[in-house]
Amino acid sequence: MSTPFWGPDFDQLRAEDAEIADVVLDELDRLRGGLQLIASENFTSPAVLAALGSTLSNKYAEGYPGRRYYGGCQVVDRAEEIGITRAKELFGAEHANLQPHSGAQANFAVYAALLVPGDTVLAMSLPHGGHLTHGSRVNFSGKWFNVVAYGVREDTELIDYDEVRDLARQHRPKMIICGATAYPRLIDFAAFRSIADEVGAWLMVDAAHFIGLVAGKAIPSPVPYADVVSFTTHKVLRGPRGGMIVCREELAQRIDKAVFPFSQGGPLMHAVAAKAVALREAATPAYQDYARQVIVNAQALADGLAAEGVRPVAGGTDTHLALLDLRDLGVSGKDAETRCDAARITLNKNAIPYDPQPPAVSSGIRVGTPAVTTQGMREGEMKEIAALIARAVRDPGAATDVATTVSALVSRHPAYPR
Ligand SMILES: Cc1ncc(COP(=O)(O)O)c(C=O)c1O
Repeated sequence: MSTPFWGPDFDQLRAEDAEIADVVLDELDRLRGGLQLIASENFTSPAVLAALGSTLSNKYAEGYPGRRYYGGCQVVDRAEEIGITRAKELFGAEHANLQPHSGAQANFAVYAALLVPGDTVLAMSLPHGGHLTHGSRVNFSGKWFNVVAYGVREDTELIDYDEVRDLARQHRPKMIICGATAYPRLIDFAAFRSIADEVGAWLMVDAAHFIGLVAGKAIPSPVPYADVVSFTTHKVLRGPRGGMIVCREELAQRIDKAVFPFSQGGPLMHAVAAKAVALREAATPAYQDYARQVIVNAQALADGLAAEGVRPVAGGTDTHLALLDLRDLGVSGKDAETRCDAARITLNKNAIPYDPQPPAVSSGIRVGTPAVTTQGMREGEMKEIAALIARAVRDPGAATDVATTVSALVSRHPAYPR
């Protein structure tokens, strides 16, 4: 085995390209210096970063292990084979495809594998927590497919399974999608399976947000219920940016062909290797503890915010994220995001169900605990963070004070300790 003559060498980058080296350092400072509460972000391990920064990035490997359209793929084949085996084991799945470049690409491939343009799809509405790829009019899904949307009930803010069943009976969709971007509660996969069976639809679970909690055995898995499960690898799962699909063996060929050659070219082999690293990490008892703590922390954060007079949508959370309704404070989601940013708290504005404000303003914020839990924070810190968010949102004049407390807090739990 040869000794690597090149690794992710920051000094080399600084010597060759000071401008980009500054960007890299400034971003590291930004994330070390504040609280990262974006529910879809996390801090990957140095091992994942090492695979991402490796020479596997150079290799063209169109095709699949053992069936490539380029020579010299013997080595990278190993990374993909290891990753596929790990994914199948971790999720109890019959087939896995690690090549989607992102969650949106994974979803595109699922549509391509199971549907033709014009087919009807039943999916969660975007303003109620669904994703762009679940039928937004500005996305391929809404432009090329006939998407019927279900939502949450106004009184409980929970998915209305009776409505889903009624809509399925009425519209006879070819595919039903569950899984969301801003839904804090568990999804009843068995209920979706029974509705899909009743109308003869495929069931696709977009598990992008919560697959890491499934990997860590902290919440139930959709895999036994779904025909296809698509997800991102960079959220709670703590891998590189990217997508993945697992499915039943009978759909394996259709899924693989829909990823390559239908919708992608050469896979990002450095990312495939990094996904394999993350899957190995996610199979450890330490990761299971992490996944459980992510949820405990999200609940503590939601409870802390409720105690500060900020209402958690759907009454709280069973997952890694909470959605907060700011209307009682008289502050929009947009202003809350800006005010928190000034106090070094990074989170995002978010529409709440039945939001009277347009999405660019919105009445809510979304907070998530994957990153702060990776930093080792626990319930005590969540209580502190809730008070800091509430103060920053209520009083823009307190930004500097809050930022000072945030700095002290993150210095006790550094991201990427030196
Ligand atoms: C539910 C869901 N699906 C798909 C995606 C798309 O992932 P990506 O941004 O990697 O394309 C996201 C991203 O946040 C998501 O939340």
